[in-house]
Amino acid sequence: MRDKLLQLLEGASDTFISGQEISRQLGITRTAVWKHMEELRKNGYEVEAVPRKGYRLTHTPNLASADEIKARLTTSRLGTSITYKQEVASTQEVAHQLSREGAPEGTVVAADTQIKGKGRLNREWYSPSGTGLWFSLILRPDIIPQRAPQLTLMTAVAVTEGIHAATGLHPQIKWPNDILMEGKKTAGILTEMQSEPDRVQAVIIGIGLNINQRKDQFPEELKDKATSLAEENGGVSFYRADIIAAVLERMEYWYYHYLDYGFSDIRRRWEELAVTIGSQITAVSVSKTVTGLAEGITDDGVLLIKKADGSIEQIYSADID
Ligand code: BTN
Repeated sequence: MRDKLLQLLEGASDTFISGQEISRQLGITRTAVWKHMEELRKNGYEVEAVPRKGYRLTHTPNLASADEIKARLTTSRLGTSITYKQEVASTQEVAHQLSREGAPEGTVVAADTQIKGKGRLNREWYSPSGTGLWFSLILRPDIIPQRAPQLTLMTAVAVTEGIHAATGLHPQIKWPNDILMEGKKTAGILTEMQSEPDRVQAVIIGIGLNINQRKDQFPEELKDKATSLAEENGGVSFYRADIIAAVLERMEYWYYHYLDYGFSDIRRRWEELAVTIGSQITAVSVSKTVTGLAEGITDDGVLLIKKADGSIEQIYSADID
């Protein structure tokens, strides 16, 4: 109910909307409307109430709560169930647990802060409170486990397009799944799987978005490597729930496109958005370092590097310089 009320108030933007109109549209009593307004105020919203005019929202806290996200969602499947936590160890852990308990496809777990945020290659993911957005999405595609990496590339496309739709900025993808602005990382994707030998039970896609951090809020070791959307927007902050809603909208589009038509359109779009492709790069993996021209990706998401001697090297997992 609160997400519907928010939708009404935010939709009315600066104009008043009467208590009677709200109670009619939501099918609840005037007393119930008043109680919901009190709840909103407790959560940091400022609602002006003027006799005979009604209610008007004058301040919205920059929350990424389930109500805020739902009030903005245009999807029909992804995000229908949202669990929002103020603080978790990792949204991936919560999503894994919910998935094991049978949570449906499209379930989202979002948090304001993570104390043990997980990055790729067992790295830690810095997830401070109030500025970024940390969430995990449960998908249940009927595919063989070997195809799951395609969903990581799909997510990179969706995140890049979602950020662009919500902010007008032009992020790019760095293989395999870093989202960059001006060469610095603004989002990361971690895909994990629950599977049987020949069938995926669930893919848990974790997305970390640096949205409103200021440069000096990043820890020293990240200052040269990471940035936020606000930093790349002249210091002007974004509303966090707008960004997650836009990302989920693009995820829904590409996911069902993938299930219906396969990977080839996503691969094409990924190559268009990728900063890596067509440039000279060095891939550093545990076992070797390969330098050459990044030619493209295969249908399995493997990076192809053309070396100076003309031979093609396939890169499965590496850091790119
Ligand atoms: C990377 O190393 O680039 C991937 C980072 C993924 C971070 C996100 S934040 C939400 C989800 N929960 C986690 O613990 N990790 C992912």
